[in-house]
Amino acid sequence: MKRMGILTGGGDAPGLNAVIRAAVKTAINEYDCEVFGIKESYDGFIEEGGVIPMDMESVRGILPRGGTILGTANRGNPYTRKVIRDGKEVTIDVKQDILDGIKKLNMDALLVLGGDGTLASAHELYSLGVPVIGVPKTIDNDINGTEITFGFDTALNIATEALDRLHTTAESHNRVMVVELMGRDAGFISLNAGISGGADVILIPEIPFKFESVIAKIQDRKAKGRLFSLIAVSEGAKQLGGAQSISRKGDEIYVPRLGGIGQTVADYIDKQGLESRVTVLGHVQRGGTPTAFDRGLATRYGAAAVRLAAQGGFDRMVALRSGKITDIPLEEAISTPKRVKPTDDAVITARNIGISFGDE
Ligand code: F6P
Repeated sequence: MKRMGILTGGGDAPGLNAVIRAAVKTAINEYDCEVFGIKESYDGFIEEGGVIPMDMESVRGILPRGGTILGTANRGNPYTRKVIRDGKEVTIDVKQDILDGIKKLNMDALLVLGGDGTLASAHELYSLGVPVIGVPKTIDNDINGTEITFGFDTALNIATEALDRLHTTAESHNRVMVVELMGRDAGFISLNAGISGGADVILIPEIPFKFESVIAKIQDRKAKGRLFSLIAVSEGAKQLGGAQSISRKGDEIYVPRLGGIGQTVADYIDKQGLESRVTVLGHVQRGGTPTAFDRGLATRYGAAAVRLAAQGGFDRMVALRSGKITDIPLEEAISTPKRVKPTDDAVITARNIGISFGDE
């Protein structure tokens, strides 16, 4: 392996820089390989100055840094973009230009750090002759075939800290505090932060809820002298028979943006004469320094991805299984998204300790 590219796509996640650092160091130390960073996801292949040479100096000091030094782009379809033509905004397809840009670089391997959308594009690029290796990134933890994606642990810790902080103010004012958390269609952040942060109600996309059930839980606590309650709600949660709350409609480039369910839940609770407030944690969950766990996992993923590339294991993704780093076909990673199952032991445990999912 003589020439390797690396890019970061989709929404950023804490640990991206740790993967980049480990990959660059491993490629240079172990394989004396030339490394190129591709800026702003696949866009770097078609932008002036979008491909930059990387060396030990370019990754110095980035281990604890959030975000990605390469930049990223979060478009549902990375091959399309909006441009102004004759004064009008039009959508154009740049797939062939991206492919031409990739081929020109004559790379022996391209590491793609991304979530489901970016990894699906990588899998497609492989079928067009690009030697891709995937690395599972996302705070949502919704990639199939790996126990955990890097970025999730940091988001979980931030969400748990938010619940801890809301706990004390909820108790002081006898209020119901609702916190809306990210995760798109997967409830892993809310489920795990809800357990770790002592939520009384957890609402996730995989278990549709009923308002009566949520209110019954709050009233039950009141009857027992607990005059406040904490509710962790996933941005993708929905009422039984209802739809997700969308804050911005999707189009041919962007997927729909989720948001608003926290406010809906708080408003309903307020109308029942129970004072409620809502906090939308948003991108705070994605920013800042990664936890020690994420730094370690990201470093292991980065080094393993380079070893896999050197062995020619293309169209595959590094993954964590039973605590060990392994690799799986990209096809498996993107075929079915990972979701919370009602039979998962975390769900059962939450129910055992009295947490309501608003469904009973
Ligand atoms: O996939 C990560 C994620 O943070 C989701 O949890 C969230 O729905 C989405 O990205 C937000 O995307 P954006 O940064 O484009 O607003």
